[in-house]
Amino acid sequence: MSDPRIVGYLNRAVAHELSAVQQYLAQARLTAMWGMTDVSDCLRRDAQEELDHADRFMTRMFHYGVAPNGSQLAPVRLGRSMAELLARSRELEMEAIRLYDEAAVYCRRVGAVDDAALFESILEDELEHVREIDAQGSTA
Ligand SMILES: [Fe+2]
Ligand SMILES: [Fe+2]
Repeated sequence: MSDPRIVGYLNRAVAHELSAVQQYLAQARLTAMWGMTDVSDCLRRDAQEELDHADRFMTRMFHYGVAPNGSQLAPVRLGRSMAELLARSRELEMEAIRLYDEAAVYCRRVGAVDDAALFESILEDELEHVREIDAQGSTA
């Protein structure tokens, strides 16, 4: 029996990750147009990592016999400077961190250890993303 609240968290997680893919791909394209090739390559790798996150959450949904049904992506947040792009990315990552932290706490509470471990693992990746953004911000 699947817990509808856990399935709901997984579905929101997939939607978040696909929004992050869209955001980082758009930022990669924009920074390429600005001639910032290294930054653009880095953002492409970020997009790929978020896609892998989406895949891991989807795998868990299929484990419960549920197909993902996210129908809306968050709008892409761009900016006119590198500092603005970093600020928008930080907002996006903080939303993921809040969601996955809440989901992990709930999963632990109801004894869904595999789901909790997945949310905690991806939460760690998102915390690392924030650290990378902050490191770039201090050198931008
Ligand atoms: Fe992610
Ligand atoms: Fe991330």
